[in-house]
Amino acid sequence: MKQPTEIRPAEGKLGVLLPGFGAVATTFVAGVEAFRQGLAEPIGSLTQMQTIRLGKRTDGRSPLIKDFVPLAGLDDLVFGAWDPIPEDGYQSALTAGVLQKEKHLDPIQDFLSSIKPMKAAFSTDYVKKLDGPNVKEGATKKDLAEQLREDIRRFREEHDCDRLVMVWCGSTEIYVRAGAVHESLEAFEKGMEENHEDIAPSQLYAYAALKEGVPYANGAPNLSADFKAFEELAAETGVPICGKDFKTGQTLMKTILAPGFKTRMLGISGWFSTNILGNRDGEVLDDPASFKTKEVSKLSVLETILQPDMYPTLYKDLYHKVRINYYPPRGDNKEGWDNIDIFGWMGYPMQIKVDFLCRDSILAAPIVLDLALFLDLASRCGFGGIQEWLSFYFKSPQTAPGLYPEHDIFIQHWKLKNTLRWIMGEDEITHLGTEYYQD
Ligand SMILES: NC(=O)c1ccc[n+]([C@@H]2O[C@H](COP(=O)([O-])OP(=O)(O)OC[C@H]3O[C@@H](n4cnc5c(N)ncnc54)[C@H](O)[C@@H]3O)[C@@H](O)[C@H]2O)c1
Repeated sequence: MKQPTEIRPAEGKLGVLLPGFGAVATTFVAGVEAFRQGLAEPIGSLTQMQTIRLGKRTDGRSPLIKDFVPLAGLDDLVFGAWDPIPEDGYQSALTAGVLQKEKHLDPIQDFLSSIKPMKAAFSTDYVKKLDGPNVKEGATKKDLAEQLREDIRRFREEHDCDRLVMVWCGSTEIYVRAGAVHESLEAFEKGMEENHEDIAPSQLYAYAALKEGVPYANGAPNLSADFKAFEELAAETGVPICGKDFKTGQTLMKTILAPGFKTRMLGISGWFSTNILGNRDGEVLDDPASFKTKEVSKLSVLETILQPDMYPTLYKDLYHKVRINYYPPRGDNKEGWDNIDIFGWMGYPMQIKVDFLCRDSILAAPIVLDLALFLDLASRCGFGGIQEWLSFYFKSPQTAPGLYPEHDIFIQHWKLKNTLRWIMGEDEITHLGTEYYQD
């Protein structure tokens, strides 16, 4: 990644394409429209609400991020979606049950109803608990990918978009490991023609996006653009990619708490996490194959933050367990319990209990917004390939091959802000602070 000498201005419309038009995607779209109409505040979004300090503490320069870096304005966003379930934005938001009908959905009903999902590249082989009629037909996966590319081109034209970004908000697909078919673009394209079973629909969307020069983020934990063929294609064609699995709820808490324990050199012998949730995502994750994908993503976090190899006395014997239980009465209002067994001075044990009554899509929606705006910024800066500086938003951050991901949310945040300073030619902040104590 080279420091940009100039950044293309954010002029014209930015199309945000959303494969998957369920709870997260509709909550995101409805929220943006509500802000545009002055009905709500964009809480949880760094691009809209956070400031960034520039220069010394004594300089008094702390603009809003959106006034510092040239981001697309919310008025310039237009939305497109794909989903096997043909509900329009209003119906889908009602089904999701996240936002209140009278207060937040009815005032923007016309807008939400105007967004109708395009036919999806979908197969129940990869998401077993769902089905719907709004599905593309094609003899091969290559045909489906080509149809997605046409959708992208048509959307760009119909909405007169200057630029596009794509954020996967589709269901979690079954666990697929990167294999020979993911090693090169040639192998992948041949695999699509042969309907290779390791090519899941989300990979077709990522392929279509990359081929159309559209930045791509994966909000779910399944394999989508995080393999050699696509990482190389993205770097070569100058298209930014990032992923994966939005960092919300329990994992957000984990990446806030674990760095704190480690900073104080407190040991952890066990971390038991369980959840109940009753939305469609919960239903999909009730299938063991989809849960496996999620579990791998959720488990990786502690290991990387705590570095048991470096601190065997504190973390070598940590027992980490994650459970997700589908429990319909809760809908999107998940409850996540954590029991953390820690130990301190001379090995004396202590316990911490966390009970997070969260709203999954309320936590995820601002992440979709920030990713859309930052990916577009990255593209206008000429950054292609993996955007590690966006790790802040993910449970399983995508990194260069062989490089372990940074999971500590505070390091991720620091990295994100320093990247913005670097992009704009400002000094990065090290927090050394010796300059305040020189005579
Ligand atoms: N809400 C959160 O906090 C959170 C956090 C991390 C990750 N995620 C992930 O984000 C994704 C969306 O979550 P959600 O709560 O909106 O789920 P949801 O079930 O409400 O919506 C997902 C939508 O994707 C659609 N879909 C499935 N396969 C598709 C395909 N091939 N093409 C197009 N659409 C497809 C489904 O029909 C569904 O409408 C899930 O994978 C979830 O695991 C959510």
